[in-house]
Amino acid sequence: MKTHTLLESLLLAASTIAGVASAANAKTCNSYNIPVTVTSTNLVFGLPHFQTDFDVADFVDTITSRNVTTASSVIAPGVQVVTATYNIAATFCRPGNGKPDSKKKSTVLIATHGLGFDKTYWDPQLNKTMYSFTDWAIGQGYSIFSYDRLGVGASSRVSGYVAQLSNQVAILAELTKLVKAGQFVGGTGKPPAVVLLGHSFGSVISITALANNLSIADGIVLTGFSLNKTFVNGLGFAEAGAIRIASFQSPAKWRRLDTGYLTNADVLTNVATFFKAPDYDPAVAQFAENTKAPLAVTELLTASSITNLPTAFTGPAMIMSGQFDFIFCMSDCDGLLENPGAEVFSHAKSFKAVSFPGAGHGLNLHLNAAESFKEITDFLTSNGL
Ligand SMILES: *[C@@H]1O[C@H](CO)[C@@H](O)[C@H](O)[C@H]1NC(C)=O
Ligand SMILES: *[C@@H]1O[C@H](CO)[C@@H](O)[C@H](O)[C@H]1NC(C)=O
Ligand SMILES: *[C@@H]1O[C@H](CO)[C@@H](O)[C@H](O)[C@H]1NC(C)=O
Ligand SMILES: *[C@@H]1O[C@H](CO)[C@@H](O)[C@H](O)[C@H]1NC(C)=O
Repeated sequence: MKTHTLLESLLLAASTIAGVASAANAKTCNSYNIPVTVTSTNLVFGLPHFQTDFDVADFVDTITSRNVTTASSVIAPGVQVVTATYNIAATFCRPGNGKPDSKKKSTVLIATHGLGFDKTYWDPQLNKTMYSFTDWAIGQGYSIFSYDRLGVGASSRVSGYVAQLSNQVAILAELTKLVKAGQFVGGTGKPPAVVLLGHSFGSVISITALANNLSIADGIVLTGFSLNKTFVNGLGFAEAGAIRIASFQSPAKWRRLDTGYLTNADVLTNVATFFKAPDYDPAVAQFAENTKAPLAVTELLTASSITNLPTAFTGPAMIMSGQFDFIFCMSDCDGLLENPGAEVFSHAKSFKAVSFPGAGHGLNLHLNAAESFKEITDFLTSNGL
């Protein structure tokens, strides 16, 4: 784990884009490029790297086969301990203009996006009132630190046969440590509290990081997620998404990504996995397709490998998914989020499960997203965060 010297921190702070203030919603944001050195135990991808989309189609057949356990030692023959330094692109936004007010410190939400998105999931270039969690949270007095996962957006590009749950968890743990220490938070100093906020694979990363170290955060909010393994449909995501090699689909955008990076075939497969009719605007689905981010095949393979649960966590915990979440609930979250969610979080100060009506997996891009934003901040506020 790397700690920054004061000089490094100052240099980093100096290299960030100057705070951009917007009068309309009194929000100040800073962008950062944060070097983190992490060690993780990585699954090794054992199959030949994909040459064509035919290979990917066959791979989907293999991982969805009822015989997959036979093939698993070939797909993932072992693990490797890797230490590496990555640059992570992050954005920190806080309420207010001008200099930070040391008397009005706010809880920092550390937001980790899921597969298919980058950090703009929390603040898309759409009608902000309807779709920006960031703007909503700022309006409620929270600060938010969001970042591009390793391999995505402006963060370091690594092989799509390498990026996976373990290194993403190690990165989140390191970022959380830095934020808790008051770094990369626009000069606001040590925050009074930090909350992990995830969507989908970002929730898997968040809950695993918390399970590894219960004291990294004061609360956790897991969206587009469920702990009920009976109805998790990760393979359905690969099938219905009709995954393809990203660099072949759009050389203009993804030429620099190796063939381990995959993406859904088109807007309709995006809809099939992330949206629920009639609760979304088709133009927003098209926007999601146009701005989507590829996923690493090793992320896909590790996305449901939660082995460690934060059962002794005592802070507030929330799980909220669209009622019709295709990926985590096989399109019906009612009765699933608290089973075994309530048991896992039985020591939490408070636990709330919300099967959010009128939404699919891509919660923040549905017509009533703003109501789900309110669920989150109401929960945190009522728990003193
Ligand atoms: C399924 O697994 C068994 C071993 O458990 C093996 O004998 C058989 O060939 C496999 N079938 C396929 C289609 O891979
Ligand atoms: C954004 O959405 C809000 C709430 O539905 C609406 O009142 C407003 O007119 C919209 N703004 C734009 C620019 O479309
Ligand atoms: C767990 O997190 C706390 C708070 O950030 C930190 O002080 C502690 O060193 C971490 N423990 C381990 C084993 O990393
Ligand atoms: C998932 O939820 C259903 C319905 O509440 C329940 O019957 C089942 O036991 C749960 N599965 C797990 C693994 O907890």
